[in-house]
Amino acid sequence: MLLEIRNLTKRFGGLTAVSDLSFTLAEGDILGIFGPNGSGKTTLLNLISGVYQPTSGRLVWAGEDLIGRRPHEIAAGGIVKTFQNPQLFGELTVFENVAVAGHLRLKRRAGWRRVATLLPARHGSDDDLHERIERVLALCRLGSVRDQPAKSLSYGGEKMLGVAMALMCEPRVLLLDEPGSGLGQDEIRNLDEVLRDLRTHGTTLVVIDHRVGFLGRLADRAIVIHHGAKIAEGPPGDVLRERSVVDAYLGPGHA
Ligand SMILES: Nc1ncnc2c1ncn2[C@@H]1O[C@H](COP(=O)(O)OP(=O)(O)OP(=O)(O)O)[C@@H](O)[C@H]1O
Ligand SMILES: [Mg+2]
Repeated sequence: MLLEIRNLTKRFGGLTAVSDLSFTLAEGDILGIFGPNGSGKTTLLNLISGVYQPTSGRLVWAGEDLIGRRPHEIAAGGIVKTFQNPQLFGELTVFENVAVAGHLRLKRRAGWRRVATLLPARHGSDDDLHERIERVLALCRLGSVRDQPAKSLSYGGEKMLGVAMALMCEPRVLLLDEPGSGLGQDEIRNLDEVLRDLRTHGTTLVVIDHRVGFLGRLADRAIVIHHGAKIAEGPPGDVLRERSVVDAYLGPGHA
């Protein structure tokens, strides 16, 4: 088991945002996380990525306890979260944004020695970095806009660039918080293909999204969270039809 979440609880004052939640993540899985607004989904990803420390419970990653680890340590260990609205350098090109993300990873490994050469030379010692950037751009279908400034991208393009930047950290598990929100139909199809490709290339995915159609088809397995607690788990097609899940979304008594 790659990641085990055991009895995880997070309280903010009197509010229990995540409540005694347990599940496991196997290598190569695409796990879909469903749940109404405010049910604790983002908080859960923030706990896994170390942004928040849990009130109680355990996170076991490849047999190792993650509690108390800082976000950058967790990212360096292979669990990387994309942001709902990624911080992009608008004036820099798509290629350069991805390059900077690659250097941030390098920085974690090698310290700030390379800060003076934040952008890679077109030729020379950065061949390995260049190759990785090209691979990531191709994987994210960003090759055709590589030389455009990031600020010229569509909203869907921006979000895809956020995914590309996260990929430069070479995650084993990528956590995506609503990657489909605000995207048009074509962009959703593109996102679906990219995420399937990522899995084919060996990345394990945890995806939150309100688009039940998109995520229901994409995920191998689903969990549904309501008031911070897991109320259902299993194949998305089955889980999303469960009475408790329909009630959570629509209110009890709904036909
Ligand atoms: N830092 C915080 N401090 C206090 N309360 C918080 C904090 N973060 C989240 N909460 C609360 O925890 C609950 C769960 O929020 P969370 O953002 O995890 O829900 P969500 O399922 O991601 O919702 P959405 O679908 O709207 O994104 C909410 O009641 C929210 O107000
Ligand atoms: Mg959220």
